[in-house]
Amino acid sequence: MEYRNLGNTGLKVSVICVGAMTFSEKGWRSAGAMSFSEIQRVVDYAIDHGINFFDTADIYAFGESEELLGKALGSKKNNVIIATKVRGVMDENDPNNRGLSRYHILRSVDESLKRLGRDYIDLYQVHWWDNTTPIEETLETLNDLIRTGKVRYIGISDFAGWQIAKSVMLQELKGWSKFVSAQMYYSLLGRDIEFEVVPACEDLGLGILPWSPLAGGFLTGKYSKDNSPPPDSRYSRMEKPFLRFDLEKGYFLIDELKKMAEKYNATVSQVALNWVKSKPFVSSIIIGVRSLEQLKDNLGCVNWDLSSEDVDYLDQITDPDRPYPQWFLDMFADL
Ligand SMILES: NC(=O)c1ccc[n+]([C@@H]2O[C@H](COP(=O)([O-])OP(=O)(O)OC[C@H]3O[C@@H](n4cnc5c(N)ncnc54)[C@H](OP(=O)(O)O)[C@@H]3O)[C@@H](O)[C@H]2O)c1
Repeated sequence: MEYRNLGNTGLKVSVICVGAMTFSEKGWRSAGAMSFSEIQRVVDYAIDHGINFFDTADIYAFGESEELLGKALGSKKNNVIIATKVRGVMDENDPNNRGLSRYHILRSVDESLKRLGRDYIDLYQVHWWDNTTPIEETLETLNDLIRTGKVRYIGISDFAGWQIAKSVMLQELKGWSKFVSAQMYYSLLGRDIEFEVVPACEDLGLGILPWSPLAGGFLTGKYSKDNSPPPDSRYSRMEKPFLRFDLEKGYFLIDELKKMAEKYNATVSQVALNWVKSKPFVSSIIIGVRSLEQLKDNLGCVNWDLSSEDVDYLDQITDPDRPYPQWFLDMFADL
């Protein structure tokens, strides 16, 4: 297993992180669910193969994902890095059981600790920006959590570039603990973060943790243009796709990935994950699986690299159109 530093910290995380969003069906039904015995097999196999990093969130199945992860890790839970999140709606009827207020964060961290069966959280992430709470209130509370030892590192998820920059500059000005990571959607079919988020993170020292690196399973090669989605796959459960991408481009990419996979004697998933791994701004890739078989397949992306020519080729065929001001800045960068 390859280990990378989490952003500018000294913390070493496996380049693959196992996400626990698929652990329970109580949450986002399209993600699917797993039996506890399969979760246990996945968690044990991951640890036996060098994975030391697991990601969950309070809102995944309203806390059940944290509970199941804590249970499956058992006595090993203090030897791995656990990331969880706060921000989502935990109770539709309670306006204070959501968001990034001091009130909700302090309540939420204790509830997550209880569910995980831990005294501390290694990486506590704000799940997405909260328009209704002053960011200073959130940042000062997160700093307090680090000072009291309940949390070791803090990160963001799903922020815009300016939100990351504003937050980290405020943390610097006030002498508060800074965000160390950014958990963002990133795959061969979703490269939007390259415009604003990646430059902000590189400049400010945050490591990127890509989520849905296989575009929810689309980049495994199991979907095809002429057939309906395989039964019991995520795309067969969804009324409309959650991730936005052009299906035609997606099918073209799959054909190219299949050719490349053949050349490397690898699978489509392994090539798609290998491309994400090739990006130096990536600290760890958060994969999702619904079976041990899928984990075994995906773990085959480590310990080898695509050639730089093949990375360049995949970059080129998935290159997103540059929005303004990126194309302008690119054009005049050297003047
Ligand atoms: N911060 C955020 O906003 C956010 C959002 C989403 C996810 N996340 C995090 O990212 C993690 C991963 O997200 P994700 O589950 O969307 O990732 P993903 O790796 O893009 O998709 C995982 C899904 O693809 C299918 N799959 C995976 N490997 C396969 C293989 N080798 N062969 C065939 N099918 C395979 C499985 O679905 P089926 O078998 O059901 O088809 C699996 O559940 C989550 O657990 C969570 O921790 C964060």
